[in-house]
Amino acid sequence: MCGIVGYIGPRPAQDVLLSGLSKLEYRGYDSAGVAVWNDGDFQLEKSVGRLAVLSDRLEAQPLVGNQGIGHTRWATHGRPSDANAHPHADCSSAFVVVHNGIIENYMQLREELTASGHTFASETDTEVVAHLLEEKWTGDLFSTVLQVLQVVRGAYALGIMAKAEPGKLIAVRKHSPLIIGLGDGENFIASDIPAVLEYTRDVYILEEGELAVLTRDGVACFDLEGHPVHFEPLRVTWDAVAAERGGYPHFMLKEIHEQPKAVRDTLSGRLSEDGLSVCLPELPWSVEQAKQIDRIHIVACGTSYHAGLVGKVAIETLARIPVDVEIASEYRYRNPIVTDQTLIVVISQSGETADTLAALRKAKASGNRVLAITNVVGSSVAREADDVIITWAGPEISVASTKAYTTQLVALYLFAAYVGALRSAVDPGTVAQLVKDLATMPEKLEEVLDTAPLIEQIANEFSAWNDAFFLGRGLDYSVALEGALKYKEISYIHAEAYPAGELKHGTLALITEGVPVVAMVTQDALYEKSLSNIKEVKARDAHVLALAWAGDAEIAKSVDRVLYVPRTVSFLAPLMLIAPLQLLAYYASVARGNDVDKPRNLAKSVTVE
Ligand code: M6R
Repeated sequence: MCGIVGYIGPRPAQDVLLSGLSKLEYRGYDSAGVAVWNDGDFQLEKSVGRLAVLSDRLEAQPLVGNQGIGHTRWATHGRPSDANAHPHADCSSAFVVVHNGIIENYMQLREELTASGHTFASETDTEVVAHLLEEKWTGDLFSTVLQVLQVVRGAYALGIMAKAEPGKLIAVRKHSPLIIGLGDGENFIASDIPAVLEYTRDVYILEEGELAVLTRDGVACFDLEGHPVHFEPLRVTWDAVAAERGGYPHFMLKEIHEQPKAVRDTLSGRLSEDGLSVCLPELPWSVEQAKQIDRIHIVACGTSYHAGLVGKVAIETLARIPVDVEIASEYRYRNPIVTDQTLIVVISQSGETADTLAALRKAKASGNRVLAITNVVGSSVAREADDVIITWAGPEISVASTKAYTTQLVALYLFAAYVGALRSAVDPGTVAQLVKDLATMPEKLEEVLDTAPLIEQIANEFSAWNDAFFLGRGLDYSVALEGALKYKEISYIHAEAYPAGELKHGTLALITEGVPVVAMVTQDALYEKSLSNIKEVKARDAHVLALAWAGDAEIAKSVDRVLYVPRTVSFLAPLMLIAPLQLLAYYASVARGNDVDKPRNLAKSVTVE
């Protein structure tokens, strides 16, 4: 999962490439590089570390030229180093290549190329592409690229330039995202739309197995056999500024505070005007179709998987359909029991997560209907699923997912109520009440966010500890899992989530004096039980922070601290609990001096296995 950009036109290429890469750093940031065409040759500059290191080098010694490709890397094959940074070139530097994805048969290709005299300068899989271009050169870049693509296997988005054909840039997409930006006398390629928005709003999202030839004056698209294909650009209407930090010190904090709006946008148009039902115009299912579903498999990774756990409770409660929630990287290699009537729901913020996409394809191959819940219109998941519910969270830049999770929950509640109503599994009064409650969520979330200063204070204290425990029962446990993931992901503090009743079966041994325990107590039916579990950890002198409903005076007697959230029904508690947990993780990370938006070893979009 890397970011690639390419430019051809009248502007200084270096500036366009660096600006584009800065918008793609969320895809990887362990090294970066650019190649610029000038005066009959390629000039390359690459550097391990953040993009800023490369920018500093280029500022000191700019590369002059109006055509180039650039890359920001998240290492898969070969550690982060100058040599492994892209672009890569062949032996005679006649070709330069940037790549996102994995060339699966690169070992074999590398051996064959080495045997025929090629010398490799890096440990990457990508470099084989440059040498293959050299090896198979026909005298024409287009036909050579087609020949090379016949022998490489795997997932790739490629940007390619050749010395013999200045004024041309080739882009290829196979299982890795790539878009074309169409300008006036200039054209662009990029892994994601924000990278080109400064220059153009007209984009074309390359289809699977498409190749584009870009010159200053135009773009032509082909399939991988070289047949021309017609393409329709789309006009991007969302604002580039929406992808900027907007005054917040980190994208994560901005995105946490955007949640009331994100929830409002995700609900918009989906609650009926009379306030009695849920409408999902994007799912024009018949009653019969909904009734036929015998089981649902929710498949996702990370935070999206955690949203799925809440979705299971929502769907089983409102639609009375049995739901299994599965981690995509496991599901894709299992032999799950499905019937023709099993619905597969994939959840993915980016819509590009490799394992989730593979699970989707597996489900499609076995003839199952797939519903995708994703935040990215035009993403692979959105394009390949039968049905799509878009979460209108807006661009999520911080690696730690926040508003995407919250809007995924909203989408799942809506879906559960919608299908439940179609199946007559839920009475209309319950749906009407849910609609009413959901409509109050944005305002209540604003109230939750007002507690940020208190959470910051608590996080400062907690950040001195090397462990934290997150407890809850029922839906509180599902949210505890996400709270713990957020905490460890950005604060690097060991965090574990436990179903509160399970502690005494082992984990209680880890509870020592003063250790931070965050206990969720919003499941009314389990209140007494949760309280008993809190007492168990208090008896071992843990420092307990409870997350409880406003007005719960009782809880304060049993814990060290309480963070109150506005009252709603227990069923919707995850929507109230998650923001305090995100803020706790955020401030603990800041207190530790971590790079909040780009936690170590991680990338925003995991497009490799
Ligand atoms: O884009 P996706 O929702 O498919 O991403 C799935 C996970 O990689 C993602 O949620 C990850 O766990 C987050 N970084 C957690 O904050």
